[in-house]
Amino acid sequence: MKHRIALLVLSVLVVAGSVYAQSFDTTLALIPQPVSLVRGQGVFTLPANAVIETNGPQTIARMLAVRLSRSTGYNIEVKDKLSISGATIRLEIATDKSISKEGYRLTVTGGTVKIVSNDPAGLFYGTQTLVQLFPAAIENFSKVKKDRWTVPAVTITDYPRFGWRGLMLDVVRHWFTKQQVKDFIDEMVQYKYNLLHLHLTDDQGWRIEIKSLPMLTQTGAWRAERVGRWGDFTKPTPDEPKTYGGFYTHEDIRELLAYAKERYVTIMPEIDVPGHSLAAVASYPELTCTPGTYQVNAGERFMHWPGDGTFYGTLDNTLCPANEKVYAFLDKVFTEIAQLFPFEYIHMGGDECYKGFWEKSEAVKDLMKREKLKDMHEVQSYFVKRVEKIISSKGKKMMGWDEILDGGIAPGASVMSWQGMKGGIEAAKLNHQVVMSPNTHTYVDLYQGDPIAEPVTYSMVRLSQTYKFDPLPPGVDPKYILGGQGNLWSERLNTVRHLQYMLWPRGFAVSESVWSQPAAKDWNNFVGRVEKHFVRYDSAGKNYSRSMYDPIFTAKKDAAGNLLIALSTEVDGLAIHYTFDEFFPDKFFPVYKQPLSIPKEAANLRVITYRDGLPVGKMITMPIAEMRKRKVVN
Ligand code: ACM
Repeated sequence: MKHRIALLVLSVLVVAGSVYAQSFDTTLALIPQPVSLVRGQGVFTLPANAVIETNGPQTIARMLAVRLSRSTGYNIEVKDKLSISGATIRLEIATDKSISKEGYRLTVTGGTVKIVSNDPAGLFYGTQTLVQLFPAAIENFSKVKKDRWTVPAVTITDYPRFGWRGLMLDVVRHWFTKQQVKDFIDEMVQYKYNLLHLHLTDDQGWRIEIKSLPMLTQTGAWRAERVGRWGDFTKPTPDEPKTYGGFYTHEDIRELLAYAKERYVTIMPEIDVPGHSLAAVASYPELTCTPGTYQVNAGERFMHWPGDGTFYGTLDNTLCPANEKVYAFLDKVFTEIAQLFPFEYIHMGGDECYKGFWEKSEAVKDLMKREKLKDMHEVQSYFVKRVEKIISSKGKKMMGWDEILDGGIAPGASVMSWQGMKGGIEAAKLNHQVVMSPNTHTYVDLYQGDPIAEPVTYSMVRLSQTYKFDPLPPGVDPKYILGGQGNLWSERLNTVRHLQYMLWPRGFAVSESVWSQPAAKDWNNFVGRVEKHFVRYDSAGKNYSRSMYDPIFTAKKDAAGNLLIALSTEVDGLAIHYTFDEFFPDKFFPVYKQPLSIPKEAANLRVITYRDGLPVGKMITMPIAEMRKRKVVN
């Protein structure tokens, strides 16, 4: 019955000329969902001597040729002119008013592939879509034995919903090399992201050369090496070798910028001040209000969140707002940053600044009297306004985390909303530009499955929650919303494999939230497409998380007050097999139907989710003692 209704709706949509065929068909499995897609008859078969012709940038054609030849082993030629008769694959810059900025039209017929766009970025995104239409084996980095490489006949018209489609990478807490950042760019563009926000400075490192301030990288880029659980590490001794870290030289940055530009990615640098500044303070201790000697943090805890929304530090990791040397320092930093990065925005952080040491400082007290600042929010606002003047004097616009609203926002500042959407809404209502990157939805370094079975992190943002992200809240003027962004903090991401696990598939969900039209979003359909991309990732040898298949455990109580365990899944159509007897719950074990009473002597509940008799989730061993500690939700 459901299918018949779906078909009826589909035919109405086709007649209306607005086609979301993928809402009912995941065979093409495009992510993000295009604006319109109409299936044609038959397939295009890539010839072994395929030719890509373009009147646009050669780099786009060459990158496509590389991607198609790696796995096929074909010798694909690139020509820099469009022929009259048309090549196998034609990438054409044209004037087409029906396609907006960064958009494209992709037409695949039995004989040719044609991508048309008004701008090179659109052409580039058209090639990303084309690659996704090939079988998963195309993602392989080495030659695959396959008789035919086909693409279904289709016409796709597509363009983005938002111009800012960002991912933030924290290269401080763990260091990612220039090559790893390039690989990250390659991954993000496949999902039509166009902005890489590099978090370059923090308590654990300063990761960019500032030629006029050499100690920032001589001292600030290095910390004691630790392996294990972040936050529980021991404090380094003063004479302990500082061997972990690294930084990008100006030359490295120029290379990264060129690499990004060829892929239509803008890089936004973030220099996080006045909090999160221990690496700068360790390099130049006179920058704090609190005299002393400092070391770059190695992952030992010095900031504390008691759980009531407040936080405090046991070490001063802030720049002193009452010290003119700080502004001279920042002028030097932002002069070099502005010269290096062509992007109009520089991000100055502004988040999570503990002000307890400012409160004790005589210099800050004098500043408050002189500037008539009534509290610490106004002191931070004074600091941020000074930073805004420095950044705008370099010809750039300033962006900061939503704490820059506290005590009064600087004129001209733009806000990146991370503490949910409320800061972004407030800023937009004050006529400031906003990027939405709420920790409630797009913090892709947080838990995506039950903490008992996941690498340690902070709070929970499941894939289904990320998929609900809409950067444009009701009642907000769209002209103030630049777009949205996913953030990857790397305290606990030591390796690229771990980074990929946290990012994908939630990165798919953010991409669809910032690129696709809201009406085209459909959770069940998205899950079907995500599964197809898992196969592509297997082919590419990239990591991703399958946690969307794992059960959600909820503690309940029966009428007599006994603990019950309820299980559910984000994904429909799964069977959860379980046991309390310490064995592996294979598909011959009971299927979960209703909240489980716990056998008196049971120590653990073990579960695995199955679909069509095959395991899709991992085995999770949930201690009963753990469930007894959890909040009861009846
Ligand atoms: C942040 O997550 N502290 C911006």
